[in-house]
Amino acid sequence: MASCGINIQYLLLCVMLARIRQCVTSQVYVAYMGSSGVHSEEVLKQNHEMLAAVHGGSNEKAMSSHVYSYSNGFRGFAAKLSEEQALEIAEMPGVVSVFPNEKRSLHTTHSWDFMGLSVDEEMEIPGFATKNQENVIIGFIDTGIWPESPSFNDRGMPPVPSRWKGECQTGESFTASDCNKKVVGARYYLNGYESEEEYGELLKKSNNAVKYKSPRDSSGHGSHTASIAAGRYVNNVNYSGLASGEARGGASMARIAVYKTCWESGCYDADILAAFNDAIRDGVDIISVSLGPTSPQGDYFSDAISIGSFHATSHGIMVVSSAGNVGTRGSVTNLAPWMLTVAASSTDRDFTSYVILGNGTKLMGESLNVLRMNRSAGIIPAGEANGGYFTPYQSSFCLESSLNKTKARGKILICRHSGSSSESRLAKSVVVKRAGGVGMILIDEVESDIAIPFAIPAASVDRRTAEKILSFVNHTRNPRSLILPTKAILGSKPAPRMAAFSSKGPNSLTPGILKPDITAPGLNILAAWSPAVKIMNFNILSGTSMSCPHITGIAALIKAVYPSWSPSAIKSAIMTTATTLDKRGKAITADPTGRMATPFDYGSGFPNPVRVLDPGLVYDAQPADYKAFLCSIGYDDKSLQRVTGDNSTCTRTAAASASDLNYPTITVPELRGSYLVTRTVTNVGRPRSVYRALISPPAGIQVTVVPKILAFRNYGEKRNFTVSFRATAPSKGYVFGSLTWKTKALAVTSPLVVRLASSNTGLL
Ligand SMILES: *[C@@H]1O[C@H](CO)[C@@H](O)[C@H](O)[C@H]1NC(C)=O
Ligand SMILES: *[C@@H]1O[C@H](CO)[C@@H](O)[C@H](O)[C@H]1NC(C)=O
Ligand SMILES: *[C@@H]1O[C@H](CO)[C@@H](O)[C@H](O)[C@H]1NC(C)=O
Ligand SMILES: *[C@@H]1O[C@H](CO)[C@@H](O)[C@H](O)[C@H]1NC(C)=O
Ligand SMILES: *[C@@H]1O[C@H](CO)[C@@H](O)[C@H](O)[C@H]1NC(C)=O
Ligand SMILES: *[C@@H]1O[C@H](CO)[C@@H](O)[C@H](O)[C@H]1NC(C)=O
Ligand SMILES: *[C@@H]1O[C@H](CO)[C@@H](O)[C@H](O)[C@H]1NC(C)=O
Repeated sequence: MASCGINIQYLLLCVMLARIRQCVTSQVYVAYMGSSGVHSEEVLKQNHEMLAAVHGGSNEKAMSSHVYSYSNGFRGFAAKLSEEQALEIAEMPGVVSVFPNEKRSLHTTHSWDFMGLSVDEEMEIPGFATKNQENVIIGFIDTGIWPESPSFNDRGMPPVPSRWKGECQTGESFTASDCNKKVVGARYYLNGYESEEEYGELLKKSNNAVKYKSPRDSSGHGSHTASIAAGRYVNNVNYSGLASGEARGGASMARIAVYKTCWESGCYDADILAAFNDAIRDGVDIISVSLGPTSPQGDYFSDAISIGSFHATSHGIMVVSSAGNVGTRGSVTNLAPWMLTVAASSTDRDFTSYVILGNGTKLMGESLNVLRMNRSAGIIPAGEANGGYFTPYQSSFCLESSLNKTKARGKILICRHSGSSSESRLAKSVVVKRAGGVGMILIDEVESDIAIPFAIPAASVDRRTAEKILSFVNHTRNPRSLILPTKAILGSKPAPRMAAFSSKGPNSLTPGILKPDITAPGLNILAAWSPAVKIMNFNILSGTSMSCPHITGIAALIKAVYPSWSPSAIKSAIMTTATTLDKRGKAITADPTGRMATPFDYGSGFPNPVRVLDPGLVYDAQPADYKAFLCSIGYDDKSLQRVTGDNSTCTRTAAASASDLNYPTITVPELRGSYLVTRTVTNVGRPRSVYRALISPPAGIQVTVVPKILAFRNYGEKRNFTVSFRATAPSKGYVFGSLTWKTKALAVTSPLVVRLASSNTGLL
């Protein structure tokens, strides 16, 4: 049901558990009040009155508790409140939800294991007006930007579009001249972060980390993501001499608007919402958010990214987001259907470090190893070099101080990685180095594909390679080995493969909507960097944070060619033209096991940046369709109106279930007997065209499409069709198929995702 119920419950729970620190001290809460229909001065006045009301009428206290007011496209505020005050506000008329200012994380895996290099997507698109990308403005909600990077040079760019209303906010090491015709705007948001007492203190104490109270990027993440989507073409780029070549963003002439909301420890809801609020007013066309809630995600209207993107989409702004790096089934986040949610896969470039065993066998590992071992060294399992109170098992993970220097000196150590996200692979190489080790083999059964710039010559290996090395070590007297420097190798493995860390479906909030929507390169991606962290201009990172801006860049190209298309039309074009085959023409597989991937891994598949510009048909959706969707998942008229700020009712806009939203994928999560889904396609291809339905049914499901032929005579013409599902054989779990509308030249494909309702449902 409506989100406020859930939040009140949460707050009540807090009151009851008043001993929990988070609940006792006052903290920042976000009060969300749906669409904005009033002027910003009026909003400010009303917010102030609400705050004064919960502060016993004190204007002073109301003012000092205020953090942000939001009035562009949606209404609300962030304020420092006690839990009782938050509860009081939650009960005031017009308040949709009140939620604590929660921290979101950047979707970069192993952010301290960072490295740097790649991007070889060729995106030359003859026959389309992609030059117009200079009129597309992309907003990045991230860690800021390093404006001096050659990726953000404005050489040869035309003047900033006159409709742009954004700002260049100055601050620490950031002046007005740091914005240019490429970086057209830059703002930063610190209030929500600093208001969190704990982190405010943390910020003051930690003086070793470089940071800027300004839009300047102190982490590298924001420069990396912005340059993937829209970086200029830069020649002679490399990572310490490795994999040299050119780097460029997908839409290299598009404009960049920076909204820095993420600081040392993360990004807070209050700041994220303030960034959406400004971006809507500034006039961005697309918003790229490489961050998200930790899974499982809460309700749509108690999550800043869901709320901000709902209103951005209602204003015609497309929002592209990352799926998350948790990797397990059902862990995907950024679940709202009005966002485009991106999973991560490999490219065809691997960073290979060969390991030579003393008996001459050459094995393949992965790293960003620019250091050279001049001679072979003895190799031992780290467990045999245990030191102090550490057992051999504990030492086998090469934890801090777990190694005995006498035993480790001059050796290559074989260390394990447990797959726990708090464990740093890079740190293990530092532990081995400190113990006097000269090399490291890291056994990483899940994510050996991530290339890491270790502190000593090293290589990550998968389970099979590890067994060969261990067997050699077990069966050899005085075993020796040599680790060679990394080489960038093209086409050594099938590509794309789904990255093991990429978060997966099903959608834990609304199972009738498939998430993720699409995949893009997110493994070992070279892009611009902040030299504040490590003196280099380009770096290699992995994560859905990196795949998200690849899709943002593609969306910018579509927006350039078709400026009037809605966010959902652009999204549909990207999804229905994607492929589920790898470059060998075989089904895309998933790391680390090599199993066949499914739509829960990649959504519609891997995009084709040329075909997206001629999708033929699109599945469009208007704000009204998202309202009907909200009704279908339990919103009533009252809660709907508070969110939308207009007179929409559920009786008028009703949809039977989430599966009925005009989405480019079809998911039926609880099939009983048979089920009928209706979809509407809009012709955006040749005026006169005829499409035929081609069905690949999920196992045990009969799929019938009516009509089987769609004939169009005009551009923009719409056609309805129905898809009925009927179980013909018992099946357990989800089964997958596809529906394709085909002409000679075009294919418009939607994955079909079905699960039979279990006969036990409802019994407990
Ligand atoms: C690598 O980059 C550096 C700095 O940009 C450049 O001087 C050097 O020539 C490049 N090396 C290669 C092998 O491309
Ligand atoms: C290997 O030899 C090179 C050149 O002689 C030297 O610069 C480098 O430091 C040596 N590496 C190690 C790990 O000893
Ligand atoms: C390290 O190992 C050596 C040789 O086995 C032993 O003599 C020494 O006591 C160990 N040191 C520590 C700190 O465990
Ligand atoms: C190597 O020997 C260790 C014990 O000495 C054993 O646990 C491990 O399974 C052996 N590994 C292989 C691949 O033979
Ligand atoms: C070297 O040792 C490995 C592991 O024991 C074994 O698989 C391989 O066949 C050996 N190679 C040679 C050339 O003996
Ligand atoms: C909603 O309906 C009321 C009464 O019919 C009308 O006064 C009001 O202007 C409408 N509001 C909107 C936003 O359409
Ligand atoms: C498609 O269906 C909708 C709702 O069921 C209806 O309003 C619309 O007129 C139909 N469009 C066409 C082209 O048949």
